[in-house]
Amino acid sequence: MANLNVELLGLHFRNPVIPAAGPNVRDGVRLQEVADGGAGGLLSKTISVDAAPVPMPHMATVRGGFLNTELWSELPPERWLSVEYDLARQAADAMGIPLIVSLGYSGSEIAQLAPKVRPWADMLELSTHYLGEDPRPMIEAIDAAKSAVDVPVLVKMSPLGREMKAAAQAAAEAGADGISATNSFGPAFGVDVETGYPLMGGKGYGWLSGPALKPLSLRCVYDIAQAVDLPIIGVGGISSGADAIEFIMAGATLVGVCTAAIMRGNNIYGKIASEIDVWLEAHGYDSVEPIRGAALPARRVSHG
Ligand SMILES: Cc1cc2nc3c(=O)[nH]c(=O)nc-3n(C[C@H](O)[C@H](O)[C@H](O)COP(=O)(O)O)c2cc1C
Repeated sequence: MANLNVELLGLHFRNPVIPAAGPNVRDGVRLQEVADGGAGGLLSKTISVDAAPVPMPHMATVRGGFLNTELWSELPPERWLSVEYDLARQAADAMGIPLIVSLGYSGSEIAQLAPKVRPWADMLELSTHYLGEDPRPMIEAIDAAKSAVDVPVLVKMSPLGREMKAAAQAAAEAGADGISATNSFGPAFGVDVETGYPLMGGKGYGWLSGPALKPLSLRCVYDIAQAVDLPIIGVGGISSGADAIEFIMAGATLVGVCTAAIMRGNNIYGKIASEIDVWLEAHGYDSVEPIRGAALPARRVSHG
Protein backbone atom coordinates (compact mmCIF):
# COMPACT_ATOMS: atom_id res chain seq x y z
CA MET A 1 0.00 0.00 0.00
CA ALA A 2 1.31 3.47 -0.89
CA ASN A 3 1.57 6.19 1.74
CA LEU A 4 -1.40 8.47 1.00
CA ASN A 5 -0.68 10.96 3.80
CA VAL A 6 -0.37 14.56 2.65
CA GLU A 7 0.80 17.69 4.49
CA LEU A 8 -0.83 20.97 3.53
CA LEU A 9 0.27 24.17 5.31
CA GLY A 10 1.35 22.24 8.38
CA LEU A 11 -1.80 20.13 8.59
CA HIS A 12 -1.88 16.37 8.17
CA PHE A 13 -4.47 14.86 5.79
CA ARG A 14 -4.85 11.06 5.86
CA ASN A 15 -5.24 11.04 2.06
CA PRO A 16 -5.46 13.74 -0.65
CA VAL A 17 -9.25 13.54 -1.20
CA ILE A 18 -11.48 16.02 0.65
CA PRO A 19 -15.02 17.32 0.12
CA ALA A 20 -15.55 20.55 -1.82
CA ALA A 21 -18.25 22.85 -0.43
CA GLY A 22 -21.75 21.66 -1.33
CA PRO A 23 -24.76 19.75 -0.01
CA ASN A 24 -22.70 16.79 1.23
CA VAL A 25 -21.10 19.05 3.85
CA ARG A 26 -24.19 21.15 4.62
CA ASP A 27 -24.27 20.37 8.36
CA GLY A 28 -22.46 18.52 11.12
CA VAL A 29 -24.26 15.20 10.60
CA ARG A 30 -23.30 15.18 6.89
CA LEU A 31 -19.71 16.09 7.76
CA GLN A 32 -19.60 13.05 10.04
CA GLU A 33 -20.81 10.90 7.10
CA VAL A 34 -18.10 12.39 4.86
CA ALA A 35 -15.45 11.52 7.48
CA ASP A 36 -16.89 7.98 7.70
CA GLY A 37 -16.79 7.84 3.89
CA GLY A 38 -13.01 8.08 3.98
CA ALA A 39 -12.27 11.76 3.24
CA GLY A 40 -8.68 12.77 3.96
CA GLY A 41 -9.89 15.94 5.72
CA LEU A 42 -13.13 17.88 6.14
CA LEU A 43 -14.38 21.14 4.64
CA SER A 44 -17.69 22.66 5.71
CA LYS A 45 -20.28 24.33 3.46
CA THR A 46 -19.75 28.05 2.83
CA ILE A 47 -21.52 30.24 5.35
CA SER A 48 -22.08 33.97 5.14
CA VAL A 49 -23.52 36.57 7.50
CA ASP A 50 -27.08 35.56 6.58
CA ALA A 51 -28.70 32.27 5.62
CA ALA A 52 -28.88 31.87 1.82
CA PRO A 53 -32.28 32.25 0.14
CA VAL A 54 -31.81 29.21 -2.10
CA PRO A 55 -34.31 29.05 -5.00
CA MET A 56 -36.02 25.77 -5.91
CA PRO A 57 -35.24 23.66 -7.85
CA HIS A 58 -31.56 24.21 -7.19
CA MET A 59 -29.88 21.08 -8.57
CA ALA A 60 -30.24 19.10 -11.81
CA THR A 61 -28.17 16.72 -13.89
CA VAL A 62 -27.35 17.77 -17.45
CA ARG A 63 -25.52 15.70 -20.05
CA GLY A 64 -21.89 15.45 -18.97
CA GLY A 65 -22.38 17.59 -15.91
CA PHE A 66 -24.56 19.11 -13.23
CA LEU A 67 -26.26 22.47 -12.67
CA ASN A 68 -26.84 24.11 -9.30
CA THR A 69 -27.96 27.40 -7.91
CA GLU A 70 -27.35 26.60 -4.27
CA LEU A 71 -25.61 29.88 -3.27
CA TRP A 72 -24.20 29.27 0.25
CA SER A 73 -25.51 27.64 3.47
CA GLU A 74 -29.24 27.81 4.08
CA LEU A 75 -28.45 27.66 7.80
CA PRO A 76 -27.78 30.96 9.56
CA PRO A 77 -24.27 31.41 11.00
CA GLU A 78 -25.69 31.25 14.55
CA ARG A 79 -26.77 27.65 13.91
CA TRP A 80 -23.29 26.69 12.71
CA LEU A 81 -21.73 28.39 15.74
CA SER A 82 -24.10 26.78 18.25
CA VAL A 83 -24.42 23.25 16.80
CA GLU A 84 -22.88 22.32 13.45
CA TYR A 85 -19.23 23.24 13.96
CA ASP A 86 -19.15 21.28 17.24
CA LEU A 87 -20.36 18.18 15.39
CA ALA A 88 -17.94 18.81 12.52
CA ARG A 89 -15.03 19.24 14.94
CA GLN A 90 -15.94 16.00 16.74
CA ALA A 91 -16.05 14.17 13.39
CA ALA A 92 -12.64 15.56 12.43
CA ASP A 93 -11.05 14.83 15.81
CA ALA A 94 -12.40 11.27 15.92
CA MET A 95 -10.52 10.55 12.67
CA GLY A 96 -7.52 12.79 13.41
CA ILE A 97 -8.14 14.88 10.29
CA PRO A 98 -8.30 18.67 9.79
CA LEU A 99 -11.41 20.81 9.41
CA ILE A 100 -11.39 23.61 6.83
CA VAL A 101 -14.19 26.16 7.30
CA SER A 102 -15.52 27.86 4.16
CA LEU A 103 -16.64 31.50 4.44
CA GLY A 104 -18.07 34.10 2.03
CA TYR A 105 -17.76 36.77 0.76
CA SER A 106 -16.82 40.49 1.15
CA GLY A 107 -14.10 41.85 3.40
CA SER A 108 -16.61 43.17 5.92
CA GLU A 109 -18.47 39.84 5.99
CA ILE A 110 -15.22 37.90 6.45
CA ALA A 111 -14.14 40.31 9.21
CA GLN A 112 -17.35 39.47 11.09
CA LEU A 113 -17.25 35.71 10.51
CA ALA A 114 -13.58 34.70 10.70
CA PRO A 115 -12.99 35.33 14.44
CA LYS A 116 -16.29 33.62 15.29
CA VAL A 117 -15.45 30.36 13.45
CA ARG A 118 -11.80 30.29 14.56
CA PRO A 119 -12.37 28.00 17.61
CA TRP A 120 -13.33 25.13 15.27
CA ALA A 121 -11.24 25.88 12.18
CA ASP A 122 -7.82 24.47 11.31
CA MET A 123 -7.88 26.53 8.11
CA LEU A 124 -10.25 28.90 6.31
CA GLU A 125 -11.33 28.79 2.68
CA LEU A 126 -12.71 32.05 1.27
CA SER A 127 -15.16 31.72 -1.59
CA THR A 128 -14.82 34.55 -4.13
CA HIS A 129 -17.77 33.30 -6.18
CA TYR A 130 -19.88 36.44 -5.99
CA LEU A 131 -17.05 38.99 -5.86
CA GLY A 132 -16.68 39.54 -9.64
CA GLU A 133 -13.64 40.02 -11.86
CA ASP A 134 -12.01 42.96 -10.05
CA PRO A 135 -9.37 41.52 -7.66
CA ARG A 136 -9.91 44.23 -5.04
CA PRO A 137 -12.85 42.62 -3.18
CA MET A 138 -10.88 39.35 -3.05
CA ILE A 139 -7.85 41.19 -1.66
CA GLU A 140 -10.05 42.87 0.99
CA ALA A 141 -11.47 39.47 1.97
CA ILE A 142 -7.96 38.00 2.32
CA ASP A 143 -6.84 41.02 4.37
CA ALA A 144 -9.86 40.66 6.65
CA ALA A 145 -9.21 36.95 7.23
CA LYS A 146 -5.46 37.32 7.74
CA SER A 147 -5.92 40.12 10.28
CA ALA A 148 -8.62 38.22 12.17
CA VAL A 149 -7.15 34.72 12.55
CA ASP A 150 -3.85 32.87 12.91
CA VAL A 151 -4.79 29.81 10.81
CA PRO A 152 -3.90 29.39 7.10
CA VAL A 153 -6.24 31.05 4.62
CA LEU A 154 -7.10 29.49 1.26
CA VAL A 155 -8.79 31.43 -1.53
CA LYS A 156 -11.20 29.59 -3.81
CA MET A 157 -11.15 30.79 -7.41
CA SER A 158 -14.16 30.73 -9.69
CA PRO A 159 -13.51 30.10 -13.41
CA LEU A 160 -15.57 33.10 -14.47
CA GLY A 161 -13.43 34.36 -17.32
CA ARG A 162 -10.83 35.90 -15.01
CA GLU A 163 -7.22 35.42 -15.91
CA MET A 164 -6.18 32.74 -13.44
CA LYS A 165 -2.48 33.54 -13.26
CA ALA A 166 -3.16 37.22 -12.48
CA ALA A 167 -5.86 36.31 -9.95
CA ALA A 168 -3.56 33.82 -8.22
CA GLN A 169 -0.70 36.34 -8.12
CA ALA A 170 -3.03 38.96 -6.62
CA ALA A 171 -4.14 36.42 -3.98
CA ALA A 172 -0.53 35.50 -3.19
CA GLU A 173 0.52 39.15 -2.87
CA ALA A 174 -2.44 39.77 -0.55
CA GLY A 175 -1.14 37.02 1.74
CA ALA A 176 -3.25 33.98 0.84
CA ASP A 177 -1.60 30.76 2.01
CA GLY A 178 -3.08 28.50 -0.67
CA ILE A 179 -5.56 28.37 -3.52
CA SER A 180 -8.53 26.13 -4.28
CA ALA A 181 -9.45 25.89 -7.96
CA THR A 182 -12.08 25.86 -9.10
CA ASN A 183 -15.63 26.64 -8.13
CA SER A 184 -18.41 25.85 -10.65
CA PHE A 185 -18.60 27.63 -14.05
CA GLY A 186 -21.26 29.94 -15.36
CA PRO A 187 -23.78 31.32 -15.35
CA ALA A 188 -25.11 28.29 -17.25
CA PHE A 189 -28.64 27.42 -18.33
CA GLY A 190 -30.82 24.38 -19.02
CA VAL A 191 -34.47 23.81 -19.96
CA ASP A 192 -36.88 21.09 -18.85
CA VAL A 193 -38.44 20.25 -22.23
CA GLU A 194 -41.51 18.65 -20.60
CA THR A 195 -42.52 21.87 -18.85
CA GLY A 196 -40.68 24.53 -20.87
CA TYR A 197 -39.33 25.95 -17.60
CA PRO A 198 -35.65 26.54 -16.84
CA LEU A 199 -34.10 23.63 -14.93
CA MET A 200 -33.10 26.01 -12.14
CA GLY A 201 -35.46 28.06 -10.01
CA GLY A 202 -35.03 31.76 -9.31
CA LYS A 203 -33.75 33.57 -12.40
CA GLY A 204 -33.17 30.24 -14.14
CA TYR A 205 -29.38 30.43 -14.20
CA GLY A 206 -27.20 27.76 -12.65
CA TRP A 207 -23.54 26.86 -12.25
CA LEU A 208 -21.95 23.99 -14.13
CA SER A 209 -19.97 21.31 -12.27
CA GLY A 210 -19.09 17.65 -12.75
CA PRO A 211 -17.15 15.96 -15.59
CA ALA A 212 -17.89 18.73 -18.14
CA LEU A 213 -15.95 21.14 -15.91
CA LYS A 214 -12.84 19.01 -15.47
CA PRO A 215 -10.66 20.21 -18.38
CA LEU A 216 -11.37 23.84 -17.48
CA SER A 217 -10.58 23.41 -13.77
CA LEU A 218 -7.51 21.37 -14.61
CA ARG A 219 -6.24 24.15 -16.87
CA CYS A 220 -6.78 26.63 -14.04
CA VAL A 221 -4.75 24.46 -11.63
CA TYR A 222 -2.03 24.08 -14.25
CA ASP A 223 -1.87 27.87 -14.78
CA ILE A 224 -1.94 28.69 -11.05
CA ALA A 225 0.82 26.16 -10.30
CA GLN A 226 3.07 28.00 -12.77
CA ALA A 227 2.14 31.47 -11.50
CA VAL A 228 2.56 31.17 -7.73
CA ASP A 229 4.44 29.10 -5.21
CA LEU A 230 1.39 28.24 -3.11
CA PRO A 231 -0.25 24.86 -2.45
CA ILE A 232 -3.36 24.17 -4.52
CA ILE A 233 -6.53 22.18 -3.87
CA GLY A 234 -7.72 20.99 -7.28
CA VAL A 235 -11.51 20.85 -7.68
CA GLY A 236 -13.79 20.29 -10.67
CA GLY A 237 -15.24 17.12 -12.14
CA ILE A 238 -13.19 14.67 -10.11
CA SER A 239 -14.90 11.29 -9.74
CA SER A 240 -12.09 8.72 -9.92
CA GLY A 241 -8.53 8.12 -8.83
CA ALA A 242 -7.36 8.81 -12.38
CA ASP A 243 -9.09 12.21 -12.33
CA ALA A 244 -7.41 13.02 -9.00
CA ILE A 245 -4.00 11.98 -10.35
CA GLU A 246 -4.43 14.34 -13.31
CA PHE A 247 -4.98 17.24 -10.90
CA ILE A 248 -2.00 16.21 -8.76
CA MET A 249 0.17 15.99 -11.89
CA ALA A 250 -1.05 19.48 -12.86
CA GLY A 251 0.24 20.73 -9.49
CA ALA A 252 -2.48 20.10 -6.87
CA THR A 253 -1.58 18.99 -3.34
CA LEU A 254 -5.13 17.89 -2.43
CA VAL A 255 -8.27 17.36 -4.50
CA GLY A 256 -11.85 18.36 -3.63
CA VAL A 257 -14.96 16.46 -4.71
CA CYS A 258 -18.54 17.74 -4.75
CA THR A 259 -20.74 16.59 -7.67
CA ALA A 260 -19.50 12.98 -7.65
CA ALA A 261 -20.41 12.76 -3.95
CA ILE A 262 -23.89 14.18 -4.65
CA MET A 263 -24.40 11.56 -7.38
CA ARG A 264 -22.73 8.56 -5.75
CA GLY A 265 -22.72 9.16 -1.99
CA ASN A 266 -20.08 9.85 0.62
CA ASN A 267 -18.12 6.62 0.19
CA ILE A 268 -16.75 8.22 -2.99
CA TYR A 269 -14.00 9.98 -0.97
CA GLY A 270 -12.50 6.72 0.30
CA LYS A 271 -13.08 5.06 -3.07
CA ILE A 272 -11.14 7.74 -4.96
CA ALA A 273 -8.37 7.55 -2.33
CA SER A 274 -8.08 3.78 -2.77
CA GLU A 275 -8.03 4.17 -6.56
CA ILE A 276 -5.11 6.61 -6.15
CA ASP A 277 -3.41 4.00 -4.01
CA VAL A 278 -3.91 1.25 -6.62
CA TRP A 279 -2.60 3.54 -9.38
CA LEU A 280 0.49 4.53 -7.39
CA GLU A 281 1.33 0.91 -6.59
CA ALA A 282 0.79 -0.20 -10.19
CA HIS A 283 3.18 2.52 -11.34
CA GLY A 284 5.84 1.81 -8.72
CA TYR A 285 5.34 4.88 -6.50
CA ASP A 286 5.15 4.69 -2.71
CA SER A 287 3.50 8.13 -2.22
CA VAL A 288 1.88 10.93 -4.22
CA GLU A 289 4.93 13.21 -3.85
CA PRO A 290 6.89 11.97 -6.91
CA ILE A 291 3.98 12.60 -9.29
CA ARG A 292 3.01 16.07 -8.01
CA GLY A 293 3.47 18.60 -10.79
CA ALA A 294 4.65 15.97 -13.29
CA ALA A 295 2.73 17.72 -16.09
CA LEU A 296 4.23 21.14 -15.41
CA PRO A 297 6.69 22.44 -18.04
CA ALA A 298 9.52 22.65 -15.51
CA ARG A 299 9.16 18.94 -14.76
CA ARG A 300 8.53 17.61 -18.26
CA VAL A 301 11.32 15.70 -19.94
CA SER A 302 11.95 16.92 -23.47
CA HIS A 303 11.33 14.29 -26.11
CA GLY A 304 12.58 16.57 -28.85
C1 LIG B 1 -25.00 21.85 -5.26
C2 LIG B 1 -23.70 22.56 -5.15
C3 LIG B 1 -23.47 23.46 -4.13
C4 LIG B 1 -22.25 24.14 -4.02
N1 LIG B 1 -22.07 25.02 -2.98
C5 LIG B 1 -20.85 25.65 -2.85
C6 LIG B 1 -20.60 26.50 -1.75
O1 LIG B 1 -21.42 26.71 -0.87
N2 LIG B 1 -19.37 27.10 -1.70
C7 LIG B 1 -18.39 26.90 -2.63
O2 LIG B 1 -17.29 27.45 -2.52
N3 LIG B 1 -18.61 26.06 -3.67
C8 LIG B 1 -19.81 25.44 -3.80
N4 LIG B 1 -20.02 24.57 -4.84
C9 LIG B 1 -18.93 24.33 -5.80
C10 LIG B 1 -18.17 23.04 -5.48
O3 LIG B 1 -17.56 23.12 -4.21
C11 LIG B 1 -17.08 22.76 -6.54
O4 LIG B 1 -16.13 23.79 -6.50
C12 LIG B 1 -17.64 22.66 -7.95
O5 LIG B 1 -18.91 22.08 -7.96
C13 LIG B 1 -16.71 21.85 -8.86
O6 LIG B 1 -16.44 20.57 -8.31
P1 LIG B 1 -17.29 19.25 -8.68
O7 LIG B 1 -17.28 19.12 -10.17
O8 LIG B 1 -16.59 18.14 -7.96
O9 LIG B 1 -18.67 19.48 -8.17
C14 LIG B 1 -21.23 23.90 -4.97
C15 LIG B 1 -21.46 22.98 -6.00
C16 LIG B 1 -22.66 22.31 -6.10
C17 LIG B 1 -22.85 21.32 -7.23
